[in-house]
Amino acid sequence: MSNPSLLILPGDGIGPEVMAEVRKIIDWFGAKRGLAFDVEEDLVGGAAYDRHGTPLADETMARAQEVDAVLLGAVGGPKYDDLDFSVKPERGLLRLRKEMDLFANLRPAVCFDALADFSSLKREVVAGLDIIIVRELTSGIYFGEPRGIFEEGNERVGINTQRYTESEIDRVARAAFELARKRGNKVCSMEKANVMESGILWREVVQKVHDEDYPDVELSHMYADNGAMQLVRNPKQFDVIVTDNLFGDILSDAAAMLTGSLGMLPSASLGAPMENGRPKALYEPVHGSAPDIAGQGKANPIACILSFAMALRYSFDQGGEADRLEAAVNKVLADGVRTADLLAQEGVEPVSTAQMGDAILAALDAGL
Ligand code: IPM
Ligand code: MG
Repeated sequence: MSNPSLLILPGDGIGPEVMAEVRKIIDWFGAKRGLAFDVEEDLVGGAAYDRHGTPLADETMARAQEVDAVLLGAVGGPKYDDLDFSVKPERGLLRLRKEMDLFANLRPAVCFDALADFSSLKREVVAGLDIIIVRELTSGIYFGEPRGIFEEGNERVGINTQRYTESEIDRVARAAFELARKRGNKVCSMEKANVMESGILWREVVQKVHDEDYPDVELSHMYADNGAMQLVRNPKQFDVIVTDNLFGDILSDAAAMLTGSLGMLPSASLGAPMENGRPKALYEPVHGSAPDIAGQGKANPIACILSFAMALRYSFDQGGEADRLEAAVNKVLADGVRTADLLAQEGVEPVSTAQMGDAILAALDAGL
């Protein structure tokens, strides 16, 4: 049998730096755990635009459809701010999500014990936090038609459309319920059914899926604005949150910050199963390209490394190896190894991106 295949798209800004550390981790699993991957690398975002004049070349898109999983670093940067909307770096990422039909975006917000004091919230509110947001990723206002900037009388009007079909809501709800069964068995669905018809339909369909197929899972509904408030008031009340594309974008940034650093959080974007039974999948850190620190060796590679752990778990059925990698990250943090984003005390020297990667490799070795 051939090795599972990975397409690596480092992208822009700190993407290539953090991905270099992931490559070391991938190699470690090949050498020490007999888990070899066939890895190929390509361009996305601004890097692809610079080379091809498009943020995602058709050949790259085609490869993404064929491999077992895609790992992406980050896209975007100020250099591309004035580009036409259709070729902005972000469009490369949105095309991958849309054409691979990655409808379920899993965004865990986990508070590592060693970092509980980094949260802007009190330690007791966040310590032990382990929640996951399931964000719908291929529909809603990000893709709905009509969209555009149009002339209307003597002024312009900007239009985007929130649109959800029953089947789009149904499938992401199922993903959330399935996930909840493997965790705390609780789902909170968030929308704005008080003002939006798409929210009314969302609530109805989620409830129906629950009643028909997942009555054992505890389900609640919340308006998304209240959800935002509850997330910063008492985040530990949640287990799995399921919500639409735009609310999920916003709520997941808030949830991420609860944990102390955006530099820590991975994500998985999953679609329907392929012929080999594996889901279409793309893994990426929640943080962006951080152009302000790009190229300086300061970036925290942990979010990207934990994204690979998610790939081990969700694409390759290697939950035990994912646990191993997460434990190594935990150990390094408990030992006080810190990149600059994780530094509160003065006088403690931050480690570089590569040193953090090496520390995690050493912890992996120590754990054998
Ligand atoms: C995210 C990002 C993207 C989004 C951008 C880069 C298009 O904010 O993944 O959360 O809005 O979905
Ligand atoms: Mg976002």
